[in-house]
Amino acid sequence: MVLNQINAIDFGALKKIIISGNGSEEGKPVSVKGEPCVCFERIENKKAFHENVPIKNIGEFLGKKIEQYGNLTVITAGKTYRFRVTKKKKLLFDSFNNTEQTDGGEKNHTLSLDIPPLYDMGVTTKDGKLISGMRDKFVQADRFAEFVVKSFLRLEEKEAYKDKENKIIKIVDAGCGKAYLSLAVYHYLKYVLKKNVRLVGIDLKKEVIDGLNGVVKKYGYDTAEFICADLKEVNLENTDILISLHACDVASDYALYGAVKNDVSVILSAPCCQQELCAEMKTPLKTLEKYGLIKERSAALFTDALRAEILSALSYKTRITEFVGAHNTPKNMLIIAEKQPFSQKISEESVKNCKKAVEFLGAEITLYKLLKEKIERKTE
Ligand SMILES: C[S@@+](CC[C@H](N)C(=O)[O-])C[C@H]1O[C@@H](n2cnc3c(N)ncnc32)[C@H](O)[C@@H]1O
Repeated sequence: MVLNQINAIDFGALKKIIISGNGSEEGKPVSVKGEPCVCFERIENKKAFHENVPIKNIGEFLGKKIEQYGNLTVITAGKTYRFRVTKKKKLLFDSFNNTEQTDGGEKNHTLSLDIPPLYDMGVTTKDGKLISGMRDKFVQADRFAEFVVKSFLRLEEKEAYKDKENKIIKIVDAGCGKAYLSLAVYHYLKYVLKKNVRLVGIDLKKEVIDGLNGVVKKYGYDTAEFICADLKEVNLENTDILISLHACDVASDYALYGAVKNDVSVILSAPCCQQELCAEMKTPLKTLEKYGLIKERSAALFTDALRAEILSALSYKTRITEFVGAHNTPKNMLIIAEKQPFSQKISEESVKNCKKAVEFLGAEITLYKLLKEKIERKTE
């Protein structure tokens, strides 16, 4: 029972964990070799002891700690969760939103706070005020939305769209999570700009997807749906715009692969947790690998640089930009790729760059492995 409740918590938005009662420990989110973890500190005999627990094992770990200590509080950006074991060994649990009535704090929003699903997603209060702990998430969704809307409007202007039979532009949100971004964008495009839009959100988490389909039904969003599926297996046929905000590690590679395979017109991907290359790279530059933190950060940068170069080799015009400031999130890099007519010159140049990068890194990232044959054939 307690495990279910703990596993339902969004640890991606974790601020702090406090374990107390029979002694105490405090946990804060950290990244260890690129893996999201919680670092717990406990003081014994005036000495501090630290333990890093990977997020993937956090449920089991906290389950044991509740039994040992009696009280557990988990504070995330949006919510606080409290667990207590009574003397009669009964588990008490409650949770509440960290509400604060303020506006977004920044002007020129694309999205407005009265977009109804933002309330269902726990971003705003019922009367359309931003919940303070959700400010960063809202700003991320809002800034990302700006790119999606611009791409949408540009696509509408293209001849291919004008010839399109149903004139619907299909957006897929790969690794949608709670879909703050895509549901808000969908609502904005469909009801504010009155556009012909279809939305498909994909995520592995069944409970989250069921909840999202409930929201879709509640608001009568007849051209939106959420699918519980693995990006490794999903078919992205007929997609016009692929968006992906913080799809973890290689999930971003599978999203990009699906987009390339299906000739998706626009790709907007802000990757995160790029762990794969860090574990595998072996460069001739020893200084790069001497310090764990430097290796981790360079591996993340090389991963995204190589992803963009691969897209360029396969007929996408690519650029990389920051969609929000680093003070909002360090995971603020956005790969923007737009499908272009095939250019032998650009493609050959990028293929060469990809090969050199892979040789230098001594490792291939998943996107390269998946598209290797296509890249080496130097064709579209
Ligand atoms: C960090 S969350 C981001 C969620 C959301 N895009 C946002 O920005 O709030 C990453 C999401 O990717 C999903 N995910 C990871 N690997 C996946 C895969 N192979 N297939 C589908 N979803 C995946 C996770 O379940 C999780 O909800």
